[in-house]
Amino acid sequence: MRMFARKGKGWENGAYLHDFQSGQEKRQPMTTPLNILLIGGSGFVSGTLARLAVSRGHAVTAITRGQRALSDGVTPLIADRKDRPAFAAAIEAANTDWDLVVDCIGYDAEDARQDVDIFRARAKHLVFISTDFVYAPDKRRFPQGEDDADYLNHSYGGKKREAELVLSEADTGQMGWTVLRPCHIYGPGSLLGCLPEHGRDPQLIDRLRRGETLRLVGGGHYLQQPILAEDLAQTILSCAGNVAAHGQICNASGPTIVESWQYYQIIADILGVPLAVEELSVADYLRASPERASFFCHRIYDLSRLAACGLHVPATPLSDGLRGHVESLL
Ligand SMILES: NC(=O)c1ccc[n+]([C@@H]2O[C@H](COP(=O)([O-])OP(=O)(O)OC[C@H]3O[C@@H](n4cnc5c(N)ncnc54)[C@H](OP(=O)(O)O)[C@@H]3O)[C@@H](O)[C@H]2O)c1
Repeated sequence: MRMFARKGKGWENGAYLHDFQSGQEKRQPMTTPLNILLIGGSGFVSGTLARLAVSRGHAVTAITRGQRALSDGVTPLIADRKDRPAFAAAIEAANTDWDLVVDCIGYDAEDARQDVDIFRARAKHLVFISTDFVYAPDKRRFPQGEDDADYLNHSYGGKKREAELVLSEADTGQMGWTVLRPCHIYGPGSLLGCLPEHGRDPQLIDRLRRGETLRLVGGGHYLQQPILAEDLAQTILSCAGNVAAHGQICNASGPTIVESWQYYQIIADILGVPLAVEELSVADYLRASPERASFFCHRIYDLSRLAACGLHVPATPLSDGLRGHVESLL
């Protein structure tokens, strides 16, 4: 494949490669090393992002409480983000500017205010990881877009929405920002399972191998569009230097839409065992666990804004991603 590179279209750090066979231009991973700060960095999403960023040659710093090891090549900063003065002091002591700051663990309006206050004068671009649980589960569109939406106003999703609003309404000065709304995230570093009673189930592989019947709420008929953590990490990194993504809130989901039980069927097929599912009543489950209501709706999303902004559109088919995930656990 013969290709040439050119800069342009608002990408300060990226390159477009022209594929002479297809005649199309394809964006390639950035080659200019960036100075990146992760809030988080040793967990599931943030650890995956840290490893990808390091592998691309970026200078990666992660600010955590220091309770878990960081991957090779990541520079540690230690502070509890909830201790606001300590966090500010750690950033002050680092005494640097960042091309990209990714808040992997912002959960409420105060976290978003902290991001604006501390990074407005220090970062070119802030990416805030939100969630698809911002959308009210009982008032969905199919697929759900970012604008024509009804939002949750309480609990985890409601607080993430409040954080998004802080960014939308704040004066962020020269700092661009982008919010990503991932749905169920899967991949190495996490447990398998996307729906109660087998969400993030540490026993899932053993249960399937034993021939145990899985108990899925609603029989697992809710649609899902899971995103592989590494795909999400690619989307996050594609924000850097992309002015088209400034001020945008984007859904971030995978390319495959399945009923939730099919997610478990794919895993059973990988293991070479049959799948048996018992349907649990949605009403009974909700009565016992009302805080889990956001799981019980179709979670399928319009990704056209992600594409229109020129961000990486997740492309790993669910069956491929789950194979890697299962293998990482075996
Ligand atoms: N998992 C999903 O399916 C899903 C779906 C949609 C959205 N999301 C969003 O994705 C993001 C990532 O989720 P995740 O569970 O994978 O988390 P994660 O990125 O693994 O975050 C945990 C990391 O944050 C650090 N940390 C935790 N509390 C801290 C604190 N107070 N101060 C400083 N560092 C702290 C931890 O290190 P230490 O313990 O050493 O501090 C660890 O490095 C979240 O914003 C979540 O809402 C997740």
